[in-house]
Amino acid sequence: MRNAKHILEIQLNEHGLRRVSLEVFQGLVFVNLDTDAAPLAAGLGATADEIRDYLPNLPSCHFAHRTEALLKANWKIVIENFSECYHCHIVHKTFTEGVIKPEAYKIIARGDSRLHCALPQSGDTNDTAADQAAKTDIFTAWYLWPLTAVQVYPGGVGTTFRWIPLDPELTKFEVDWWLAAPKPTSSEQAMNNQHEATTFA
Ligand SMILES: [Fe+2]
Repeated sequence: MRNAKHILEIQLNEHGLRRVSLEVFQGLVFVNLDTDAAPLAAGLGATADEIRDYLPNLPSCHFAHRTEALLKANWKIVIENFSECYHCHIVHKTFTEGVIKPEAYKIIARGDSRLHCALPQSGDTNDTAADQAAKTDIFTAWYLWPLTAVQVYPGGVGTTFRWIPLDPELTKFEVDWWLAAPKPTSSEQAMNNQHEATTFA
């Protein structure tokens, strides 16, 4: 907005703009319309350290790709669906057969976040990680109440999930890919394509 045409001519106090809470965590910008809400960090606890361990260079990663879909469901149903993986071996076969070991999939609730984790099919993937500083021993995803998740594929590839409630029966789902280099490697591109074709939504 700072660079928008005529923005400097607008008298902000004449347009009923409301103050919002804004926090930056690992390069991600979180906005909360409730200025009295507790700080994001207070609700994250150990999750904040884990995200830093598995995606230490997220703030300098490059935006590579966005996959999006419209889901015909209330956002709470969508989040409920994301918060279990019993459906994964039916709906996301490539994920459960090629990426993780589904028998060890765990979801751990803590405060305002949920940790999803599983052993990868191919063991520790640090050898192939684009980011050598990243922890890569397990597949991890963290759901952050209410509408965000951060996920790390084996190999240290980071994605962020956003669910945007459009109306009571429609939710937009966006998955953004964050990579160490501006252009995806062939394996990153293959992972992206596979996710879009077989795992997304
Ligand atoms: Fe799913």
